[in-house]
Amino acid sequence: MVEIKNKRIIVFASGTGTNFINLYNNVINGKIILLVSNNPNCAAVKFAIQNKIDISIINTYRFPIEKNKNKQYEIVLNSYKPDLILLAGFMKKIPENIIALYNNKIINIHPSLLPKFGGKGFYGIKVHEAVIKSGDSFTGVTIHFVNGKYDKGLVIMQEHVLVDKKDNAITLSKKVLKKEYELYLKVVNLFCK
Ligand code: GRF
Repeated sequence: MVEIKNKRIIVFASGTGTNFINLYNNVINGKIILLVSNNPNCAAVKFAIQNKIDISIINTYRFPIEKNKNKQYEIVLNSYKPDLILLAGFMKKIPENIIALYNNKIINIHPSLLPKFGGKGFYGIKVHEAVIKSGDSFTGVTIHFVNGKYDKGLVIMQEHVLVDKKDNAITLSKKVLKKEYELYLKVVNLFCK
């Protein structure tokens, strides 16, 4: 029997990390070997501690000089040799040196149908508030490669989510998040296969 080697996955997260947790619990033929975060107090880091996942905290507090901070990403990533880097609610821009080194290996999830409601300033609940305000009858989830511009990398997969007349930003965010779990896992499993 041919043994399938687990793909080495690094996740970047700054917040609750529910996508990270969902991936950690369900990915097939892949293993999350490291969590990178800028926020040592976030729930994603707490989960990583509880589950003995390696953690690297990279932020301006630890690395006040930007050049050093960017170099630190490089040192850490290179030492873990990832096959795939997944952004899951990571609130900082990925520096150019990392994008160049890991071209087409960095993937992000965004809670709308890009290019709609994407780019600088469209994050978290703001995305869903804008969708509700627009009156659109559907929104969705986008998985895309990461390049140097916010939410502008090549789209890998998208899935729509209906907006009900009764929805507000909160109810919509819950529906979209549920779809995010499905779609991110699907894409990552396909990659690992
Ligand atoms: C998700 O909505 C994702 O699309 C966006 O950030 C949010 C992270 O949520 N990039 P969680 O931390 O995984 O719960």
